[in-house]
Order: sequence, then structure tokens, then C-alpha cells
Amino acid sequence: FEKMPLAIQINGVNHDLSVEPRTTLLDLIREQLALPGTKKGCDHGQCGACTVHVNGNRVLSCLTLAVTAEGKKVTTIEGLADGEKLHPMQEAFIKYDGFQCGYCTPGQIMSGIACIREGHANSDDEIREYMSGNICRCGAYPNIVKAIADVKK
Ligand code: FES
Repeated sequence: FEKMPLAIQINGVNHDLSVEPRTTLLDLIREQLALPGTKKGCDHGQCGACTVHVNGNRVLSCLTLAVTAEGKKVTTIEGLADGEKLHPMQEAFIKYDGFQCGYCTPGQIMSGIACIREGHANSDDEIREYMSGNICRCGAYPNIVKAIADVKK
């Protein structure tokens, strides 16, 4: 495939890249940009491990072609902390033990932030519903809900 130019902002940094049209945003982030925080679980929209924000909206990066993010702002888990200071959602996941193995955690945190931002964190049920696309094999769900509810307060 012939490569296409792609101007994209990732975590506040502008990149002028060239990508194959079939490259997913997930592979672009992990391989071309060497940001491994965003995880590849299923690679077909079933697990939520690859969740990032594009222009502030929650997106499954494995189902998104990189070229569709032309001119957009992408935020990954690496872009949340302010220097040494973690994002409140990252702090809350630590405080409430919102993970065990940690593989799903970047996606859970990106979804948790979107859950509050989009106004779906008004009850535990609402949080559970919004977060239902983010699978945790370790079953840390109760603590994930607690963490999101606490940040929402
Ligand atoms: Fe994208 Fe599983 S890797 S949803």
C-alpha cells in the first residue's frame, strides 16, 4: 500500500507522519509512535483495552483507521499525568485497587474519564453501563466503579 501523509497531535505533540491507509490508530500509537501504554487485547472491538480519546471523545483505537484522525488531537494514557503528578483518575485507581494484572487499566482509565466527562457517572449502575465495553479478566469491576464514582464526587 502506498503511504499517506498524516498530521496528528498526540498528547499535545504534533506529528507529521506517513502511514499505510490500513494502519489502525492502535498500531500507529504503539508501533510507529512507540507509546505502549495503550493495550492491544482483542484487536476487534470487544475488550476496550485500546481505548483512547480523539478530540476528547472515547474511541476504540483498534477499530479506527489512523488516517481518520487527520488533524485531530489524540490522548493516550501517557498523556494524562502532568509531569510527576498523576491524573485524579489514575490516583483513584491506585487508591481503590482498581486493577490486578493491569493490562486493561489504561483503557479502563480512559473510559472512566470519558464516563464522567460525558455525564454518565451519576450512579453506580450508570457507571457500570458506560464501562461495560471495558473487560477486566481479573474481575476488578467493583473497585473500578468505586474509583470512578469517587472522582465524580
Ligand atoms: Fe480494541 Fe480489544 S483491542 S477493543
